[in-house]
Parts: sequence; C-alpha cells; structure tokens
Amino acid sequence: MTGPIFPPGFAEQLDTLLTWRRDVRHFQTVPLPDGTLDHLLDRAALAPSVGNSQPWRFVRVLSAERRAAIVAHVEAENRKAAAIYRDETRAAYDALKLHGLQEAPEPLAVFCETNPAAGHGLGRQTMPETLACSVVMAIHTLWLAARAIGIGVGWVSIVDPVAINRLLDVPEDWRFVALLCLGYPAEQHETPELVRRRWQDRLPADQTRFTR
Ligand SMILES: Cc1cc2nc3c(=O)[nH]c(=O)nc-3n(C[C@H](O)[C@H](O)[C@H](O)COP(=O)(O)O)c2cc1C
Repeated sequence: MTGPIFPPGFAEQLDTLLTWRRDVRHFQTVPLPDGTLDHLLDRAALAPSVGNSQPWRFVRVLSAERRAAIVAHVEAENRKAAAIYRDETRAAYDALKLHGLQEAPEPLAVFCETNPAAGHGLGRQTMPETLACSVVMAIHTLWLAARAIGIGVGWVSIVDPVAINRLLDVPEDWRFVALLCLGYPAEQHETPELVRRRWQDRLPADQTRFTR
C-alpha cells in the first residue's frame, strides 16, 4: 500500500507546530466545541504503546464538586512544594502560575492501566515503566493535535497521585500520570513560560547530547 506523500512545506509547518506547542496555564473560559475532546482523544490513541497495550485511560472531570476538590488539593500541594524554596527563589516560585485548573474548560486526568490485558505483556517484562511511557506518548500526541487546532494544553503534576485516584474514584491499579487542562489559550508565546520568567532556560545542546 502506498502511503501519503507529505506536500512541500509540510515539514516546515510541523516545525512551526513543534516550536509553538507550549504548556499553557492561562486560558479563556469558552468551552471547546462539541466533539472536540473526542477528536483529540482519537488522535491520542494513534500513539505508539508497548506491545500495542494502549494503557492510557482518560477521565473527563465534568463534576463541579470534583473539580473544586482537585483545585483545593493542587493548591495545598503547591504550598507544600513552595516550602523547599527560600528568599528570591521563593518569591520567584510564588510568582509562577503553575496551573489553569480554575479557568480551563476541560480538565482531563490521565492514568495508566498497570496490568492491561491488551498486548499480552509483550515488551514490558524487563521495564514495566514502558506502560507509563506509552501513556506519555499519547499525551504528547494529544498535545500536538490540540495545538494544531488552536487549543492549548497545560500539564499539572503538583499532586499526590493517590489522592487524585481517590478524588476521581478510579481503580487503585490505574497509575496517575497527568492532570491536563485543555482550552483556548488567553495568550500565545513562542518561548516557554518558565524561560520567559527566568526560572529555567533551555539547556545548550552540549548538555544533553553525547557520544560514546
Ligand atoms: C511531566 C510534566 C509535568 C509538568 N508539570 C507541570 C506543572 O505541574 N505545572 C506547570 O505549570 N507546568 C508543568 N509542566 C509543564 C512544563 O513546565 C513545561 O513543559 C516546560 O516549562 C517547558 O515549557 P513548554 O512546554 O511551553 O515548552 C509539566 C510538564 C511535564 C512534561
């Protein structure tokens, strides 16, 4: 079977998508159009997974009570996380916006099924974490697909994973991977927020690339 031939300019457009992906914490409150989330989850399901196990489990948080409980939980964990910083670093930390959970129209929790039947265990016997790696692949696929249609995604990890399982009433053997905020961004940037706020620059290539 012959596959598609990507037209001239496609690689440059993909490059623009990668360059402008961004982690988004500032959202408009307007809801996503009907069917958009399912469209994005269908795209996420195109991601590779170990043994084709497809261990991603997505939970839409529709309940206002559960969302409020999650926001309260993240705020409490954020205060605990802040305690390790002192002086100017503490002031810089406090000035960061680390989630858009209040405004984002579509909070989405992502879990990893830790013993999925699909895939029959193929490829993960020596490295069980390949299941969680597979879920991250799905999240990144969703992230890019969302950005391609103007939707921003923000990843929130300042949580106690066990508490999130409890708050969302999901099985204990689903391992929490991410809390995502989806929505239309309130602003667009080519540079990551943490770089713009001088928290952390991008590393030079020689710190991340090696030869042996
Ligand atoms: C595993 C993971 C966890 C993250 N957790 C948070 C978080 O809790 N809060 C936040 O604001 N951003 C979080 N981020 C987003 C990163 O801060 C962001 O990706 C990084 O600063 C680079 O910015 P960019 O995604 O816009 O390129 C997380 C990203 C990843 C991949």
